[in-house]
Amino acid sequence: MTGTPPPSIPLGRQPVLLPDPVPAHPLLDGKIEIGRGEYSIVLDKGDGERVYKVVSSPADYFLYTADDRPRGKHFPIIYTDHGIIGRAQSGYPFHLLEMEKLYPLTEDCEAADLATRMIELYWTACQQWGQLGMNMGRIALHHMTVTPSFNNSLNSALKALSDFVEEYQVLPDILNTNNLMMRKDGTLVFSDPVFIA
Ligand SMILES: Nc1ncnc2c1ncn2[C@@H]1O[C@H](COP(=O)(O)OP(=O)(O)O)[C@@H](O)[C@H]1O
Ligand SMILES: [Mg+2]
Repeated sequence: MTGTPPPSIPLGRQPVLLPDPVPAHPLLDGKIEIGRGEYSIVLDKGDGERVYKVVSSPADYFLYTADDRPRGKHFPIIYTDHGIIGRAQSGYPFHLLEMEKLYPLTEDCEAADLATRMIELYWTACQQWGQLGMNMGRIALHHMTVTPSFNNSLNSALKALSDFVEEYQVLPDILNTNNLMMRKDGTLVFSDPVFIA
């Protein structure tokens, strides 16, 4: 491992939260907001298994709904695409998705250790390819897939993510542990691994 530790917020990006109110929709009536990021709002469905995620980023919408989206152990299960339910102040449409409920990484669990190792390796690769500017994250992720460093399932997940990023011309967003979550059984899940610059 070389250089400085990874920043908690990806370089040049502010921890902005989406300013919009929850869009009005019968499925969201009375539901509790349990998460919010720069592009999404997450509401608990209340059944202990699923959440409603209101997404405004086209990158997220592709990742969660494309036929060729990455699937498997480390990607979230999407149950239903409920369609467009409004428009964000940013101008992007709000899509309502019903997906599996995930949990923040707790300290000292295997998923958190794996996430830390992965973020450190990714950050090291980002530093190595920093001169590439906008392409840095894509190339760093690709670099991780040609030198597999984890177990088979995580290596495959990184490869699937890299292929998706290339195909859809989006950028990886895996430096921030907010975008990595886990299942009740402790599996590490790439909950929000891409963005559009
Ligand atoms: N499937 C989920 N289950 C429970 N909480 C979630 C889920 N997905 C995201 N969250 C919570 O919502 C927050 C924002 O979600 P995220 O996907 O990172 O949105 P954004 O696209 O705005 O970055 C996350 O930091 C997390 O706390
Ligand atoms: Mg996020």
